[in-house]
Amino acid sequence: MKIVNKKIINDVGGVRITQLDIVSADIASKAMPGQFVMLMVSHEGERIPLTLVNADKKTGIVSLIFQEAGFTTKSLGKLSPGESLYSLVGPLGHPTEVKKFGKVILVGGGVGIAEILPVARALKEAGNEITTILGSRNKDLLILEAELRETSDQIYIMTDDGSAGKKGFTTDMLGELLSKEKYDLIYSVGPIPMMKRVAAASKEYNTKTLVSLNALMVDATGMCGCCRVSVSGQVKFSCVDGPDFDGHGVDWDELEKRNKVYSEQEKHICRLLKP
Ligand SMILES: Cc1cc2nc3c(=O)[nH]c(=O)nc-3n(C[C@H](O)[C@H](O)[C@H](O)COP(=O)(O)OP(=O)(O)OC[C@H]3O[C@@H](n4cnc5c(N)ncnc54)[C@H](O)[C@@H]3O)c2cc1C
Ligand code: FES
Repeated sequence: MKIVNKKIINDVGGVRITQLDIVSADIASKAMPGQFVMLMVSHEGERIPLTLVNADKKTGIVSLIFQEAGFTTKSLGKLSPGESLYSLVGPLGHPTEVKKFGKVILVGGGVGIAEILPVARALKEAGNEITTILGSRNKDLLILEAELRETSDQIYIMTDDGSAGKKGFTTDMLGELLSKEKYDLIYSVGPIPMMKRVAAASKEYNTKTLVSLNALMVDATGMCGCCRVSVSGQVKFSCVDGPDFDGHGVDWDELEKRNKVYSEQEKHICRLLKP
């Protein structure tokens, strides 16, 4: 669990996104696209889920890319190469369904772009035609464009202010593409409001839509119930039944509410302990 490399991908306008490469031969040997790990920075800390962005079976190194959001991700961002995590468990969750679907659109927003990369590579390798739509607030916050350009047959960049690509939201471009052609799969990761709008847009065209949900997790083994989500009227646990779900069936309003449940306590911890 030793960190062997650290790269600050982005540090602008209060948004800091970092890549950590960590030695874990066991996890690297089993990891599949779409799976995640649970980590603890110190023995007193909480467990947080992060997606396995890369897993190199030969070197036994796994890569995580995270945005500093609160106490734990800020503490993680302070670690340096040579230091070790207190714990790292994985790979967890079901891998993303990878097969030849045909024409696939990937929609990534913010740090969700990092979570899309391993799935993009796997779907491309399975023979799919990949169209990627990336969205960020502005050009400085856009990550992994070069890597996804390499994997995609077409790529569209959308920024809120028009400083890169087209001005607008990822869903504006998605709507445009869906109105012109038939696609076989949409896969989306990003902020909940974005995934919710992606699902609404694709439902109109009845296009299969998978979303990787970022529900709050505690144990990530299906025991605590913290990550429960409602999908097509059924209660599912994101950690063991997901994290990918049919976007058309997700109760987005419930997920949004549940993800804010500990906001006050998290702010209090940050004020008290100052990561
Ligand atoms: C399966 C899974 C995979 C994930 N993969 C990644 C990843 O690869 N990279 C990455 O940067 N993040 C990822 N996340 C989100 C990450 O786990 C949270 O950002 C982290 O738990 C926040 O912890 P914190 O203590 O730093 O912040 P907190 O103080 O807990 O939260 C600070 C703010 O961050 C937001 N937040 C908290 N938890 C989440 C959450 N689960 N999802 C989205 N926003 C949240 C809330 O707005 C909150 O107010 C993933 C989440 C899941 C469930
Ligand atoms: S995190 Fe506890 S059941 Fe999923």
